Amino acid sequence: MAISEAVRDEMRQIVALYPQSRSALLPMLHLVQSVEGDVSVDGINACAEVLGITSAEVTAVSTFYTMYKRQKVGKHHIGVCINTLCGLLGGDAVYAALAERLGTTHDSPSADSQFWLERIECQAACTHAPVMTVDWEFMDDVTPASAVDVIDRLANGEVVQSTRGPVIRDFSATERTLAFPNDGLADEGVSVDDKMLAGLRIAKERGMTAPGIPAAQPSQTEA
Ligand code: FES
Repeated sequence: MAISEAVRDEMRQIVALYPQSRSALLPMLHLVQSVEGDVSVDGINACAEVLGITSAEVTAVSTFYTMYKRQKVGKHHIGVCINTLCGLLGGDAVYAALAERLGTTHDSPSADSQFWLERIECQAACTHAPVMTVDWEFMDDVTPASAVDVIDRLANGEVVQSTRGPVIRDFSATERTLAFPNDGLADEGVSVDDKMLAGLRIAKERGMTAPGIPAAQPSQTEA
């Protein structure tokens, strides 16, 4: 789909935020995904024109990072962490259940093209392993059954609340947030809970402290 002049104007707004214009490329590609559903050829060409670089340079960046897709993602992006802690606590079983429910496999659209399933790496959310993401919002402590239930509710158009963030919107809305981060939702949902603070609480109860930081040694050139 041709990139509209309104979207090109938004690309220029992003460019204006950076001292070096090409630093704007990553959020520009998220903007492309928000309007196109993927990093389309038209989107690549529009980024290149606005930045004054080649389409090959834009393509090189967009194919390096896994968050940029070259195929339509659909309405919702589903991630399942399969790194060590999540994998050990059931992430692999969650992934298998979702792959069966959606009729797809890693980094691919569902049979109905409404969902995208992806194995993802550690989301720094191990406290609540196994973790699943929906449009990059957390669903904590999932099981195969609860993960499939999330998909069923989204497919039915029901409201789904992330466990540590806002109500699930859709992939397009999240991609727009990644292009223009101030979406007003930063304070939605629970940001920290007792489970996350358990280590700190126990350390305080036991009077534990971290060792001091050693004084910096003079470098050889200063000696
Ligand atoms: S291993 Fe899954 S969030 Fe860290």
